[in-house]
Amino acid sequence: MEVIIRDTREQAAALAAAVIAKALRDKPNLVLGLATGRTMETLYQLLVDKHRNEGLSFAAVRTFNLDEYIGLEARDPHSYRYYMNHHLFSRVDIDITNTHLPNGMAEDIASECAAYEYKIRSYGGIDLQLLGIGISGHIGFNEPLSAMLSRTRAKALTPQTQHQNAQFFGGPDGVPKRAITMGVGTILDSKRCLVLVTGAEKADVIAKAVEGPVTSMISATALQLHARCTVIVDSAAASRLENQEYYRWIFDNEPEWQDFD
Ligand code: F6R
Repeated sequence: MEVIIRDTREQAAALAAAVIAKALRDKPNLVLGLATGRTMETLYQLLVDKHRNEGLSFAAVRTFNLDEYIGLEARDPHSYRYYMNHHLFSRVDIDITNTHLPNGMAEDIASECAAYEYKIRSYGGIDLQLLGIGISGHIGFNEPLSAMLSRTRAKALTPQTQHQNAQFFGGPDGVPKRAITMGVGTILDSKRCLVLVTGAEKADVIAKAVEGPVTSMISATALQLHARCTVIVDSAAASRLENQEYYRWIFDNEPEWQDFD
């Protein structure tokens, strides 16, 4: 795992956007794993800007989102399908038939999850998986005690996550109680993970995720096992990390990052 600290939220998102843009230019038919949430809104705006101003093309990209609420129609403004169409897909040259999210309205959720896993594998796996981290330590909706080897399945959301997402649903009681999520094992199968975490409210959880012991109580700690995981944080989210000096040195000195400065 490598940790990159940028001073501001905007700089952190800009670096994540630059990493994705480079991956897309290197492999135009990238299989890209996507996340939703507040953190990603800035990032998607930057990707849209790159599409409009720099000709970044999504025409051959195939995408798989991490998760979707159970019981929400695609046209529901709270669904993650709606979020993705609104923030990214409708604003770039992507072929919408190449975009995949679990179907939270499926009659048979277990079959839907198995089919989602199969589809990811049939595309040769995910090249680059974008991730945020929730206050509960989740990646996707892998709440505490998600097995490290778990696959796509239905998961009950913790009260903490319901509170985190309450503002979109008029309070925690309105938040759906279950979601379909890629498993921790599904995420670990991606060839590369790119994690973007910003804001002081995430300082505690990112310190545990990056520097704490690996535990299924905090699913994000599983990323320590991934062979190629980059975590980009702003200085507010980095404030409780012990080795900040080292992480800053990496960004300033490692050749890989010099083109991004
Ligand atoms: C959503 C997802 C979640 C979010 C996390 C952070 O698709 O995968 O794990 O990334 O809950 O959400 P925000 O950015 O809203 O704090």
